[in-house]
Amino acid sequence: MKLSRDELKGLMKNKMMKAGLPEDQAETVSEVLTWSDERGYHSHGAVRVEYYSERIAKGGWTLNPKFSWQETGPCSAMFDGDNASGYVAAKMAMEKAIEMAKRNGIAVVGIKNIAHSGALGYYTEMAANQDMVAISFCQSDPMAVPFGGTEPYYGTNPISFAAPTADDRQVVFDMATTVQAWGKILDKRSRHELIPDTWAVDEKGVPVTDPHLVNALVPIAGAKGYGLMMLVDVFSGVLLGVPFGKHVSSMYHDLSEGRGLGQMHIVMDPERFVGLEAFKKSMSQVCDELGEMAPAPGHDKVYYPGERAVMRREKAYATGGVDIADDVYEYLKSDDIHYNRYDHKNRFAD
Ligand code: NAI
Repeated sequence: MKLSRDELKGLMKNKMMKAGLPEDQAETVSEVLTWSDERGYHSHGAVRVEYYSERIAKGGWTLNPKFSWQETGPCSAMFDGDNASGYVAAKMAMEKAIEMAKRNGIAVVGIKNIAHSGALGYYTEMAANQDMVAISFCQSDPMAVPFGGTEPYYGTNPISFAAPTADDRQVVFDMATTVQAWGKILDKRSRHELIPDTWAVDEKGVPVTDPHLVNALVPIAGAKGYGLMMLVDVFSGVLLGVPFGKHVSSMYHDLSEGRGLGQMHIVMDPERFVGLEAFKKSMSQVCDELGEMAPAPGHDKVYYPGERAVMRREKAYATGGVDIADDVYEYLKSDDIHYNRYDHKNRFAD
């Protein structure tokens, strides 16, 4: 089903308000979800609304949060999200981080006690839109083995960075540190297809091709991706005093409880380094040079990170709207708040 931006955002916002989320918060969450869907990151768009609505209805998001912002130095701060929506807390913390970086050059902001905050590129792009360079990391529930291990220890722990250019392009890199998301395994299960042996392992840590035998996902690039997963967990977990590693709460464990997750935003003002105009000019040069390079066989072009996401958004609106799965659309336009499908499920929502 193809939907206009307003239709899609409105349906999601209304559903979450019906579940009990105050309007200003529903506005923020639905905006970030729309940002994801229109860029083709459907794993972090409307498909999540039913789960969020169940969590909202069951009390797992603090609906009237008391956020706290404590500056621990000229360039550092802790933001306590009071176990509210991660979207609302992460967005507010990024606004404050941008303001601090404009004031003092750099802002390192730890965000603790939040729920899932979705696609990280939304927050780093906020900084690039204000001529800042930013990086963000966050924890997610343990479902990946460390390199050489047998048990899930780290989450899909994503990393995003963004930077402005001298024109209307923004570089927005945004990835999970696992080879594939769990959603891709579920998709293969439902299609009765095998998975490549590079995606996941069984209980003995042995690579599997049968999606039903998956016990854990694997890091990107072996030991190197494992190191990046650890980096994310150290910066957004251990450093902030929230549960880390295998102690991070599971998304579906108990939907009436807060998740206590951590996230970190680091924002830098290029003016304090090479100078803003020189930085933006060089970033435009980087994007130009990459785009002008002869592509390798099987590729049509070398894209800078985030370029294809913007192309997907433009194509969606030029061809009738954002494509939303039919079952997700049926749910969004129904009168139902949720179908009690996620509470007390395992880490894979099984
Ligand atoms: P992906 O694999 O679709 O893309 C990863 C990166 O590679 C993107 O920056 C993309 O621009 C770039 N890219 C992909 N193909 C490219 C090409 N041909 N040329 C140049 N660049 C290219 O992303 P992934 O890993 O599936 O993550 C999807 C989303 O899930 C992200 O927004 C991430 O933040 C989010 N996420 C959120 C989590 C959370 O707990 N909040 C956990 C895990 C992921």
